[in-house]
Amino acid sequence: MDNIAVIGAGVIGGAIVKSLLKYGYRGKIIATRRKIDKLREFGKLGVLITTDNKYAARNSDIIFLCVKPNDVSKVLKEISKEIEGKIVISTAATVPLNFYKKIVSKAKFVRAMPNIAVLVQESFTAYCCDSDVTLKDEKKVEEILNMLGVSQKVEEKYMDAITALSGSGPGYISIIIEALMYAGLRVGLPRNLSLYSSAQTVQGTGKLILETREHPAKIKDMVTTPSGTTIEAIYELEGSQIRQALMKAVTEATKKCRMIAEEIAADAHSKS
Ligand SMILES: NC(=O)c1ccc[n+]([C@@H]2O[C@H](COP(=O)([O-])OP(=O)(O)OC[C@H]3O[C@@H](n4cnc5c(N)ncnc54)[C@H](OP(=O)(O)O)[C@@H]3O)[C@@H](O)[C@H]2O)c1
Repeated sequence: MDNIAVIGAGVIGGAIVKSLLKYGYRGKIIATRRKIDKLREFGKLGVLITTDNKYAARNSDIIFLCVKPNDVSKVLKEISKEIEGKIVISTAATVPLNFYKKIVSKAKFVRAMPNIAVLVQESFTAYCCDSDVTLKDEKKVEEILNMLGVSQKVEEKYMDAITALSGSGPGYISIIIEALMYAGLRVGLPRNLSLYSSAQTVQGTGKLILETREHPAKIKDMVTTPSGTTIEAIYELEGSQIRQALMKAVTEATKKCRMIAEEIAADAHSKS
């Protein structure tokens, strides 16, 4: 069984560690961050915790790199010797594969974009691989990513858009669930009933679309009876800017990804 290191076990790295533990991953898990106290809980659960990134990389076969995009270069330089020949899965938004490769040409890099639903093994994780990642490596990567939810290999050109859509998506859907919850309060539902019925409705609709492979318009049609209650609500929604708001949100987040990537590239260029 491969040993896995999670370097930078903060929000998403910590969620990966939790998810692997919940899955019952049988290999060794090593987690690092600078504020080691925040990893004590993992220590109690059998995770080897340390602030020593080199130690973690040296003693692992697969390395998750979960630091912020601006910290990638520094951490990668620090562990460059230890990751040669190994698979490094980075969750950093915006950082392209060629950026990693320029720093450590002999490691095999996977650029992955999970979302926070990793915590409940329901992440949608898109990933792309550099040309040194073999089919055998890819199979291993897929197996591990599927322990966190579902994964899909994509072309790298889609990664910024996927970051803006499913990477940030739990933020948008949370706004929708919160709005539905307040709508429930407005029409007199108790708070908990309103929140859980909203969240379950979002989950159920997602599952319905995934399992039936039906277009969302079909689901909408299925719940809309002539002169019924739903059509009244849909009439109101269609008069709002809800569709455009979501499209704009994802477009702006994609643009921001591209801007950050350019800044990181310019910064690296100025230092070289
Ligand atoms: N949050 C999400 O939903 C999400 C989703 C998909 C992708 N991502 C990507 O995942 C990455 C991490 O995001 P995040 O939200 O998890 O951020 P975060 O909570 O700030 O986690 C980053 C972690 O990196 C650690 N770190 C920084 N420098 C380090 C070093 N030299 N050695 C070891 N650890 C170090 C920090 O530890 P200390 O605080 O102890 O210094 C922190 O725990 C980002 O690149 C982001 O783009 C995030």
